Amino acid sequence: MKTPIHIAVTGAAGQISYSLLFRLAAGLLLGPDQPIVLHLLEIAPAMPILKGVVMELQDCASPLLHRIVVTDDPLVAFKNVDYAFLVGARPRGPGMLRKDLLEVNAEIFAVQGRALDAVASRGVKVLVTGNPANTNALIAIKNAPGLKPENFSCMSRLDHNRAISHLAEKCGVLATDIKNMTVWGNHSCTQYPDLHHAKVKGQDALSLVPKKWFIEDFIPTVQQRGTEVLTARGQSSAASAANAAIDQMRTWIFGTDTSDWVSMGILSDGSYGIEAGLVFSYPVTVLNGEVSIVKGLDINEFSLQRLRVSEAELKEERDAVRYLF
Ligand code: NAD
Ligand code: LMR
Repeated sequence: MKTPIHIAVTGAAGQISYSLLFRLAAGLLLGPDQPIVLHLLEIAPAMPILKGVVMELQDCASPLLHRIVVTDDPLVAFKNVDYAFLVGARPRGPGMLRKDLLEVNAEIFAVQGRALDAVASRGVKVLVTGNPANTNALIAIKNAPGLKPENFSCMSRLDHNRAISHLAEKCGVLATDIKNMTVWGNHSCTQYPDLHHAKVKGQDALSLVPKKWFIEDFIPTVQQRGTEVLTARGQSSAASAANAAIDQMRTWIFGTDTSDWVSMGILSDGSYGIEAGLVFSYPVTVLNGEVSIVKGLDINEFSLQRLRVSEAELKEERDAVRYLF
């Protein structure tokens, strides 16, 4: 019997967690023979709802779920955890921009960064999903000086998956036929889903779809997908976000395929001219848990302009929360 691995999930009574927790308990992150202990963090007013979620988790009789820790104290939630999904934050409502969330959510990630710094396993992998995810990840990094920036990433996998799916549908192929998709920048409507390096069954994507479709359909559709889902459901995406969170953490743990890469929001080292110290989505490969930015891709003027727009938005967000670090 393997030793259980400890996984924290914040915002455990929320809608993303309602999909995420049951997937974790089913072994979809670490496999069918790896026991886990779930550490569930919520704010006090949400505890009655969380109680119901815990009852449902228990009612699954999962052979992998050895124990559940329920708390409203981040120092308890993050104690010795190996993986942390920072989901808990207020989501956008209809008509709100992600920027509007900055003020209400930023403080959460300062507190949680400090708590992770104090008590989490030194090798912890922290995936920030709560919006605005890139800048929240930056706040957490800055408040956890005892951990490395490499312990943190923010979620751009949902954008990456959306981009793959939209291209696959256009080309009449399966999602698995698409390789080397890239989403650059912020998890917001300034993100740049880029087809210049993407392959469809080994062929250049841009040789298969009209340039006009790339510019006028593909880019805005992927950029606006979160808003479209929010408008349709009256609530922001949840099941697909939980799915992407598992995908991103799995890739981070188990690595990328040799012939492919993924998009991940990580602390910029200045690659592709992006200001170092912003959390920016890059194409990355992962080996043995270590994330490396794919270097040397040709970036034309069209792409460069879009990278700059997203960088400028992230600088603005960073400047608005400087008081937290
Ligand atoms: P939700 O409102 O259903 O759930 C959020 C939960 O977080 C609530 O139960 C709330 O009580 C809890 N919470 C608030 N403050 C907390 C704190 N300090 N500590 C612990 N828990 C706290 O929202 P949701 O739909 O689950 O979305 C969660 C976040 O994820 C939102 O910010 C949303 O915008 C974001 N999101 C990100 C992506 C992405 O791709 N990065 C995709 C979808 C949603
Ligand atoms: C998404 O991309 O679906 C989420 O970030 C929700 C949102 O606010 O758009």
